[in-house]
Amino acid sequence: MKDRIEKLLEEIQELKAQKEQEVEEIRIRLLGKKGVVTQLFDEFRTVLPEQKRELGQILNKLKVVATEKIDELRDMISEGGSTGKSEFDLTKPGDKFELGAKHPISITRSEILAIFNKLGYAIADGPEIEDDWHVFGALNFPPEHPARDMQDTFFISTGENPVLLRTHTSSIQVRAMETMKLPIRVVCPGRVFRNEAISARAHCIFHQVEGLYIDKDVSFADLKQAVLLFAKEMFGDNVQIRLRPSYFPFTEPSAEVDVSCNICGGKGCNICKGTGWLEIMGCGMVDPNVLEASGIDSKVYSGFAFGMGVERIAMLKWQVRDLRLYFENDIRFLKEFQTSV
Ligand code: PHE
Repeated sequence: MKDRIEKLLEEIQELKAQKEQEVEEIRIRLLGKKGVVTQLFDEFRTVLPEQKRELGQILNKLKVVATEKIDELRDMISEGGSTGKSEFDLTKPGDKFELGAKHPISITRSEILAIFNKLGYAIADGPEIEDDWHVFGALNFPPEHPARDMQDTFFISTGENPVLLRTHTSSIQVRAMETMKLPIRVVCPGRVFRNEAISARAHCIFHQVEGLYIDKDVSFADLKQAVLLFAKEMFGDNVQIRLRPSYFPFTEPSAEVDVSCNICGGKGCNICKGTGWLEIMGCGMVDPNVLEASGIDSKVYSGFAFGMGVERIAMLKWQVRDLRLYFENDIRFLKEFQTSV
């Protein structure tokens, strides 16, 4: 019996097949109900107890080898080759190469920046890991002031001027005021961080574009005009805006900007929760304390600032209901935004 098993082992190694059908025939011949391997197992029941151990081992090996060989033949055939030929078929078509697309957040950020570019705004950049002064201190948030609770952050160090992750890109505006020559007209795109629970409407990481214009005689009317132009370019010529009084430590007066709902045209729907309006950004006239903190004479200069969340604009533009989709990298979602931009 041992000899027969060993001979069969050798035979199995040599097996070849061209078609699925042949592999099935081999399987039946070896492992089928009346197959040779099956018959050997039947015969095994009758061998003497002292031979059981050795024979059992090679018999089990035979079954494993036979099963593996059958799988291997099947794989080779389904991959388009046939056994016994060269594995390198240079005439085979190449592997498909998937092209990526721009992320919807990148697309939206580029659109926002392009609009402000047309209005003469330069792009400014700054660090994501910032100090307390640039994120809070210079923006009129006194230490321990409750306004800091609106933007809870992640601290990297403690002390007098702790290092932390920026909660808004207003920190870039502070750096612009410290270093650039007046007048200043910049937009500040970037990633920001807040200590918030992740949900469909909030995330601990998101993106902003903020803007700053400082010159002599800049007025609230100028702010309103800039915001209106932006809204029309972004959401279409028919869009209306409204400004609601609000509070930010660094602007006075401050406002939230709403645009008329682009889904229902202002009649009220479930996207705008029946109000006809969608909130898109915060804005206001730069507080004189903020200008002075960066060494700008607030008696000579005035300015306005605004800031928006890129995810929010993208959600409104494409009616995405869940913010988390932007971070999951699910190819089915990202494919919805194929663009040549
Ligand atoms: N920095 C504010 C925020 O992150 C947005 C803002 C910017 C509001 C400029 C007013 C003026 O919420």
